[in-house]
Amino acid sequence: MTITLIGAGNVGYHLGKRLYKKGMTIHQVYSRQIGNAQLLAKKIKAKPTDDLSKIDGQADLYLIAVKDDVIALVAEELGKNSVLKNKLFAHTSGAASSQLLARHFKRYGVFYPLQSFSKTREVKFSTIPICMDARKKKDRQLLQLVGAKISKKVARISDKERAILHVAAVMVNNFSNHLFYLGQQITDAEQIDFDLLKPLMLETVLKIDQHSPYDMQTGPARRNDEKTIKKHLAYLQKFPEYVQLYTLLTKSIQHAYRR
Ligand SMILES: NC(=O)c1ccc[n+]([C@@H]2O[C@H](COP(=O)([O-])OP(=O)(O)OC[C@H]3O[C@@H](n4cnc5c(N)ncnc54)[C@H](OP(=O)(O)O)[C@@H]3O)[C@@H](O)[C@H]2O)c1
Repeated sequence: MTITLIGAGNVGYHLGKRLYKKGMTIHQVYSRQIGNAQLLAKKIKAKPTDDLSKIDGQADLYLIAVKDDVIALVAEELGKNSVLKNKLFAHTSGAASSQLLARHFKRYGVFYPLQSFSKTREVKFSTIPICMDARKKKDRQLLQLVGAKISKKVARISDKERAILHVAAVMVNNFSNHLFYLGQQITDAEQIDFDLLKPLMLETVLKIDQHSPYDMQTGPARRNDEKTIKKHLAYLQKFPEYVQLYTLLTKSIQHAYRR
């Protein structure tokens, strides 16, 4: 299996390394900045380029891992190349429709690894769900095959389901991480060691592996401890921008446990 990677950002970087490690040939790596393409290409014995018109027809699969807003633009550029017309293209986005590719290619799909990726952080790829789909059956089979090489969990997920999953992913990952950050803003401002909160943050996440988040909720909002909530809000006058968020989340928790 020969794969060309369009994009060498967080996802391109991890996906490229994993596919290569699992025995696939990575033919070309594109990134807008040649340095990024070169860095990854060197690790996975591929040819780097910063020019979309240089992407050739030698791969079986073209994975597009560029930022959501430019998937259509990149597909349009690649679609101009007649040698790519009958090739299979799949983007890696959780939010973008596969229809972005439909205008330019007959064979198209999605290959979305449901995880948060940063170049500076290693990931355990075997546990990452690969949400894939393609218009044609033989292309779904191909994406299933590639997915199964790099992960234990590959699932066919429609555009509609993926868009919904992405909303839930933003809630559980982006929002909870942002709350961790706000907690750090408070401890840093007060010169209290943020590390003291780390076991709590880890336990918050670890316990939902075996229990439902609903059952695991604790805290003043869950218990309806009004005095404590008032005390917190009084303290947060020091951080007025957090008051609304604290109030909103408190109400959301109280609403969830209202009988
Ligand atoms: N990061 C995640 O946690 C994650 C998880 C699952 C799926 N995804 C999806 O995977 C895709 C890539 O995400 P990412 O986090 O890897 O993004 P990223 O780190 O920002 O990398 C994006 C890639 O797109 C290129 N790019 C940016 N603007 C461009 C433009 N105007 N024209 C051409 N290329 C451009 C970048 O090139 P240069 O950097 O060389 O300029 C880079 O190669 C997105 O669709 C995202 O939704 C992300």
